Order: sequence, then structure tokens, then C-alpha cells
Amino acid sequence: MRKTLLLVSVCLLSAICLFAGGNSENTQSVQGDTEGRVLVAYFSWAENNDGNFGVDAVSTSSLTRPGNVEDLASFITSMIDSDIFSIQVEEPYPANWDDCLARANEERRHGEHPALVSSVGNIEDYDIIFLVYPNWWYDIPMALYTFFEENDLSGKQVYLFCSHGTGGLARSVDQIREALPDSLISENVFDINEHQAHGSFSVVRDWLTELGFHPEGN
Ligand SMILES: Cc1cc2nc3c(=O)[nH]c(=O)nc-3n(C[C@H](O)[C@H](O)[C@H](O)COP(=O)(O)O)c2cc1C
Repeated sequence: MRKTLLLVSVCLLSAICLFAGGNSENTQSVQGDTEGRVLVAYFSWAENNDGNFGVDAVSTSSLTRPGNVEDLASFITSMIDSDIFSIQVEEPYPANWDDCLARANEERRHGEHPALVSSVGNIEDYDIIFLVYPNWWYDIPMALYTFFEENDLSGKQVYLFCSHGTGGLARSVDQIREALPDSLISENVFDINEHQAHGSFSVVRDWLTELGFHPEGN
């Protein structure tokens, strides 16, 4: 009886391990590549709203530049040698919070990938991509999927960096892994609450150091 129980336990454990490891081809351990040309690509509502600031719109500082995500992205570029690219949609989102939520939700429900105003152009020149994004609807803004379609990130080292509200990272990391099956995505994901983003320079610096970069500045 004991032997049977042991055998069943071993089988169960193996099945769990197999299941857990089954989707990890593009998962990388904490230490990823740090050598090569770096691009910091980010999406921020502050650079993707129509500027119609009504009474409702003023409820969040996210509407004015620099947004949380832009600030985080610029911290990275100020500390390591890199280029920066702002992902911007052709048709900006409403500055009204409720209207923005509604449009973002519609896009998500219908799997729409909104058109972008510009493209990186020379993505092949980069080896390392920092993807800096906000949590939108437990996921990522749909504009990032357009960015993935337009820029081949296969074989590139990708570091994820997310600013969010109370929802945390939610499904965002899994969604990115699914969208970028051929990229090397570091398991060391940076995430920060929206209220702490602006003052997080030293936290970002520590994170970059932990990844193996040599950030400049204090
Ligand atoms: C359309 C929209 C949807 C959002 N959905 C979520 C969410 O599901 N969970 C969460 O924690 N935060 C959510 N947020 C909050 C943002 O992730 C957070 O404020 C982030 O710091 C915004 O960065 P930004 O100001 O640079 O765009 C949402 C914000 C917007 C505008």
C-alpha cells in the first residue's frame, strides 16, 4: 500500500513539473544577456491621449508628461547606453478616464491592434529590448501587440518593466510570453505601483545592477 502511495505521489509530482515547465521555452533565468545594443520601448497614456482634459480627466496625473511609464523608461536610458522609442497610436485614447477604459476594453475584447504613428525602422540593430508598459485591463495595451507585429523580436533578450495600479502584473507577463515565443524573456520582471513610479530612480538602478548592467548616476 505504501509503495503504491509513493508511486502515485511520484507520478503526480512529475506531472506537475512537466506542466509547470511545459510553457517555458522563452523563459530565461534571472541573469539574461547584458551585452549588445539596447532599445527601451515604452507605451504611456500621457503620450497617447487626445488632450481633452475635462473635469473627470484631471483625476489622474497619468495624463500629463512624463507619465509613469515614460519616467521609468527615461530612468533606464539615463543610466545605460540605449536608444528610446515611444509607442504611439494613430488615434489617441480619450483623456477622460471612463472613456479611455471603455475604448481599451473594446479593443481588448475584439483583439484589435491599433495602428501606430511610427516604427523603430532598424529593430535588427538591437540585441536587448526593455519593454516598459502599464497594466491595462490585467493585460497590456493593445498597441504593444501592434508593436510586436511590426518589430521582429525573435532571438532578442527582452526585459519587462511594468507600472500598474492595485492589479499588479496580472496576466501581462504571460500574455507577452505568448506573443513573443521566440524571444528570450528574463524572469526578473520589474513592477512598480503607479504611486511610486516617479520616485523610483534608485530602485530602477538597483534592478539594473541586479540584472548585470552597470548603471550610471545616483
Ligand atoms: C485604460 C487603462 C486600464 C488600466 N487597467 C489597469 C488594470 O487592469 N490594473 C491595474 O493595476 N492598473 C490599471 N491601470 C492603471 C495603470 O496601469 C497605471 O496607472 C500605470 O502606472 C499607468 O502608466 P502611464 O501613466 O505611464 O500610462 C489602467 C490604466 C488605464 C489608463
